[in-house]
Amino acid sequence: MATNRTFTMIKPDAVQENHIGGILHMMEEGGFRIVELQKLLLTPERAGQFYAVHAERPFYNDLVKYMSSGPIVAAVLEKDNAVADFRTLIGATNPAQAAEGTIRKKYAKSIEANAVHGSDSDENAQIEADFFFGSK
Ligand code: CMP
Repeated sequence: MATNRTFTMIKPDAVQENHIGGILHMMEEGGFRIVELQKLLLTPERAGQFYAVHAERPFYNDLVKYMSSGPIVAAVLEKDNAVADFRTLIGATNPAQAAEGTIRKKYAKSIEANAVHGSDSDENAQIEADFFFGSK
């Protein structure tokens, strides 16, 4: 995968509350092209694998439960400087600290139910995209 790609998920709370379209619109308006897109339900096992890097964190069990509580939308996005620009577009992990105009400021409910995920590096973007869509 080229370094101009990143990976995102629209999380269960945002899907449940009918925000798929609004969030994808903000991504497209932000200059991102949708390369891959899939709505699916993660099993607790798959959610646990995806977030295995956080396995020792106190919020891990709740995170796995939450991420398998309803459908998510997984996507690969393309844009120059995708990883960094996407993290700017989504805002801080904790929506209380998210800047105005960001996806999390508009849609996130809490630090856990924070509407969207965005990869934190080119390396993880590739790993995460492969987790859902196979090697590109
Ligand atoms: P995400 O960017 O998908 O990466 C890890 C997720 O863990 C994070 O978004 C939140 O949904 C969740 N989470 C829950 N509590 C915390 C916390 N205290 N710090 C960071 N992430 C948290």
